[in-house]
Amino acid sequence: MAEFITGFDDQDSRLETCDLPAKEYRIEPFSMVIFGGGGDLSQRKLIPTIYGIYRDGELPEVFSVIGVGMPEMSDGQFRDLMREAVERSAGGSLPEQEWAGFAGHLFYVPGGFDGDGTYVALQKRLEETGKACAGNTIYYLAVPPKITPVIVEKMRDRRLCRVGDGAKVVVEKPFGRDRASAVELNEILRSAFEEEQIYRIDHYLGKETVQNIIFLRFSNTIFERLWNSQYIDNVQITVAEDMGIEHRGGFYEQAGVVRDIVQNHLMQIIALVAMEPPIGFEADYIRDEKVKIFRSMRPMRDEEIDRFTVRGQYGPGKVAGSDVRGYREEEAVAPGSNTPTFMAARFVVANWRWAGVPFYVRAGKRLARRVTEICLQFKQPPLRLFGSACDTLEPNILVLTIQPEERIFLRFGVKYPRAANKIYPVNVDFRYQDVFKEKTQPPYGRLLVDCMKGDLTLFVRQDGVEAMWDCVDPIIRRWEAQEAQDFPNYEAGSWGPGGASDLLARDGRAWITK
Ligand code: BG6
Repeated sequence: MAEFITGFDDQDSRLETCDLPAKEYRIEPFSMVIFGGGGDLSQRKLIPTIYGIYRDGELPEVFSVIGVGMPEMSDGQFRDLMREAVERSAGGSLPEQEWAGFAGHLFYVPGGFDGDGTYVALQKRLEETGKACAGNTIYYLAVPPKITPVIVEKMRDRRLCRVGDGAKVVVEKPFGRDRASAVELNEILRSAFEEEQIYRIDHYLGKETVQNIIFLRFSNTIFERLWNSQYIDNVQITVAEDMGIEHRGGFYEQAGVVRDIVQNHLMQIIALVAMEPPIGFEADYIRDEKVKIFRSMRPMRDEEIDRFTVRGQYGPGKVAGSDVRGYREEEAVAPGSNTPTFMAARFVVANWRWAGVPFYVRAGKRLARRVTEICLQFKQPPLRLFGSACDTLEPNILVLTIQPEERIFLRFGVKYPRAANKIYPVNVDFRYQDVFKEKTQPPYGRLLVDCMKGDLTLFVRQDGVEAMWDCVDPIIRRWEAQEAQDFPNYEAGSWGPGGASDLLARDGRAWITK
């Protein structure tokens, strides 16, 4: 039970804001099966990350990683392929002995995902390599979304997993393409696993600075007391990328910015900024609070969508001094595509804390620079004492930069020297790198370790997935039903269409991130 804060004379109880100990977790011997083991995600993220965890001495002595995939490969060939991948990721060759020690834990099962033979062979491999793992198996679905149901059904039918048997399954986003398909996907997953066995990955939740949002809020008195509609004028969240869609035209044409970024990464950031303090630092306490936020963001009606959202698609332009092509000229994109690569919106979190505070959000590809940032703009003081000398007082702002550099920035006003009645804005600027050099962990590292340990805190629960779709489904439907007449409507390398600035200008505000 959390200790109730009784009074100001009791110093000790004041510090005891939460006495629920976070559960102790450690990594037990495990087998991890990666479906799509030789594929892109496995090569770029999973195997290099698991190697990093091994090198840091965090893995138990007994573990195995079994890749499953279509290409014919022996264990030896798989190990060679993964070595190249890890070296690419590390930017150099690996210490011979260390790699040999790690490679001995890698195995490969070739085969199609829809053939029973693959699962028979996998079962045999698991029995051979995973004797000491006591069924502690993680199935990682590093495959395109349409293959997920096929694999889960085969695993269930071949008895590789059973509801409640202790196995875990890791699912990558997108979790469906709308609420209905997310529910359908979940039904298939739930025919083989309990909710507690399902790890839905949103890699943003693995980023240190994203996690830091709740540490900053709930471990400091100075922020949380002001974190509400009484003191905050508006919240702004920007998830900007300077990259285009790279070679993912086929995927992006189906997804667009709302499904790719807004429904997951951006909504998760909103929840962390807006949520109430959880009653403890356990997975479900935190996830309960996040879901309440998604539910408070009532779905918009069509006329609200037209007024409070802006969509965009990039045309040709210049990024970092080089000419880049427009979205419609990208590989595997239809010449008249209606897919949005940019979204800005004014969201409302309709609860007591946030009533009347607009949440302005924007996300897009091929924008002026890569930056993910949360800005809280505070209200003006109640009385303008210094008004005669400075008509436009700079408001206090708190900026949490998630990337490219991890940073917390606070702006406030001080007296300008000598001038009688002049305020001057100054900044406190904290950079993670200055204090914690080399210490921050890559997002996949944190998430994989948590999954191995069985800690679900940073993974998304199904009710959250559905509630996030509820917020964006009406927008996607409206936009898909009405072709954008002005696409492409922003130049690559800009800050998106003019409508995004107008959205704030109409309210007498402007984007803080520039
Ligand atoms: C992915 C999206 O989830 O996140 C990509 O599918 C996007 O389109 C990427 O580029 C951004 O991740 P990060 O960590 O680079 O901000």
